[in-house]
Amino acid sequence: MSPIALAQNQPLQSLDEVEDFYKERYPQPMSEAQKKPAVGADPAKKVDEFRNYEADARPTVREFYRLNHAHQTHEFALAKRKEYLGFNRRQMGIWEAAEYLNQLIDDSDPDTDLSQLEHLLQTAEHLRADGQSRWMILTGFVHDLGKILCLWGEPQWAVVGDTFPTGCAYSPKIVFPKFFEANPDFRNPRFQTKNGVYEEGCGLDAVNLSWGHDEYIYNVCKDYLPMEGLYMLRYHSFYPWHREGEYGHLLNDQDRKHLKDVQAFNPYDLYTKSHAKPDAKALRPYYEDLIAEFFPAKVRW
Ligand SMILES: [Fe+2]
Ligand SMILES: [Fe+2]
Repeated sequence: MSPIALAQNQPLQSLDEVEDFYKERYPQPMSEAQKKPAVGADPAKKVDEFRNYEADARPTVREFYRLNHAHQTHEFALAKRKEYLGFNRRQMGIWEAAEYLNQLIDDSDPDTDLSQLEHLLQTAEHLRADGQSRWMILTGFVHDLGKILCLWGEPQWAVVGDTFPTGCAYSPKIVFPKFFEANPDFRNPRFQTKNGVYEEGCGLDAVNLSWGHDEYIYNVCKDYLPMEGLYMLRYHSFYPWHREGEYGHLLNDQDRKHLKDVQAFNPYDLYTKSHAKPDAKALRPYYEDLIAEFFPAKVRW
């Protein structure tokens, strides 16, 4: 497979840079006490933490977030849903999609960094080693397949990075909040009230989050995985909610119920990265069986 060169205006050398940055921001898995769906706990402490990790962020990561916050408008997020969620690009099986994603070669060090397929396998294998349910292991295997958006010409800022609600006020706990000042929505008063275009308690399903790989893979898998897994897919990058406890006013009972699922998944995504590379060839039969249990042979993308 031929490497796909990354286009201009793509500041990250590797998509991993964003994930490494998450780990710098959240070096520890959440404790059980922190998992309470508290809104706005410890405001003073969080402000300091922001300052540190913003100051320490690599210039490439800072530039990535500058682009992300400037360009992810409400209208952009709606337009991308329309563009991609008709699923008329191709039909592929899940393993095939993982191999397809694996063409995404960025400039990271091939000796120490994991490929996309290796990250998926490592996440899934950690879930498996912990005795998690089969649907959850499979959720781990598919969770980043939405990054194939990069192969279809989407810029990094429209694929990865933390997601956030568009069409309402930005939480100050979103990383690099200052960069939102360059977003056209910032000057639209309708989008800058607490609830914005939403009703209080409307539920996240009704909220147009910034566009990225989470929303795409959720929609691909919507008919095939249990609700718990679908929450893990759809909101794994929604750090302002699952790590910062923000946007409580938009949640409904279903969101409050499944927050713990998103939080249970996060450590497997974030803290399992090691340089021990999983053996894709040896693992493939296990995953093909697991995939066949939940998905049809071909899925629409
Ligand atoms: Fe992800
Ligand atoms: Fe991931």
